[in-house]
Amino acid sequence: MPSLPDAVTVRAAAKVNLELLVGPRDASGYHALATVFQAVSLYDDVTVRRAGRCSLTVAGRDAEHVPTDESNLAWRAVVAVGEGHPDAGPVAISIAKDIPVAGGMAGGSADGAAALVAADALWGVGLGRSELHRLAAGLGADVPFSVLGGTAIGTGRGDELAPAMARGSYHWVFAFSDEGLSTPRVFAELDRLRAERGEEAVHQPEPEVSPALMTALLAGDAEAVGRAMHNDLQEAALSLQPRLADTLVIGQECGALGGIVSGSGPTCAFLAASHEHALDLAVALTASGVASDVRRAQGPVPGARLIHPGKEQ
Ligand code: C5P
Repeated sequence: MPSLPDAVTVRAAAKVNLELLVGPRDASGYHALATVFQAVSLYDDVTVRRAGRCSLTVAGRDAEHVPTDESNLAWRAVVAVGEGHPDAGPVAISIAKDIPVAGGMAGGSADGAAALVAADALWGVGLGRSELHRLAAGLGADVPFSVLGGTAIGTGRGDELAPAMARGSYHWVFAFSDEGLSTPRVFAELDRLRAERGEEAVHQPEPEVSPALMTALLAGDAEAVGRAMHNDLQEAALSLQPRLADTLVIGQECGALGGIVSGSGPTCAFLAASHEHALDLAVALTASGVASDVRRAQGPVPGARLIHPGKEQ
């Protein structure tokens, strides 16, 4: 039997929701969702190393905003994998962040997913797909998708996944905001806005992913995907950060095929027609000064995957 490694590094991607429909709120406070996720090429790397005592350090983008105690999803993931496993012991977790914190791109979920896969490999636990999914869903609604990657339909809380039939590669431009948005706060704001219109949160229709988007993805038709992009949480994110509307207008003026708030925001996601168009869009967004940072990425990309030790070792 090959010996177990002393340290494992796993890379997990950010996500964008091409469509995010928010249905009724249940008794636990969660909302029924119908969403289409796509993993995009912005990554966090999580290293889990055997150590004398448990610790967690974070470096990179927004590192100062990330908790370094046992509330961190990566820490909770390692604890969840180790529970009842004889070879589990203290580990030093280090996270290299490139996904914005509280940005609506599942940065925390990516760290949780990466840490699950890393701890599994470090201790040779041999988690099967369904056990990995169960542990991931226990950490948060977006964590199962961060494990899976690609393009997928999410229902339930967003944690019941089915891979989407999707062709092609998509060029994205993301405009970050210097101020994060809390996901529970954005859902609560949507409930409030709906209540103002006389729509009760518990009496929303059951959401269903739109056939137009599925057809567009199947055909690999970026223009049609752009037209079909939609996010029910956008009005709530705009209500909490009204200046995001300026960012969306600039994307539209520069011919983005689609432009929406990503997840619960505040990151704005723009679909470009080509690599060159993405460059132009990124330049225009940067020059306008509306965003704290602008990044290009491609999707879909895989979910959480081992990058060290590599296959050759
Ligand atoms: O599962 P996770 O911890 O990522 O969710 C964060 C918060 O987002 C929840 O506490 C809830 O307020 C909101 N949420 C929701 N319905 C979902 C997913 C998340 O209301 N399906």
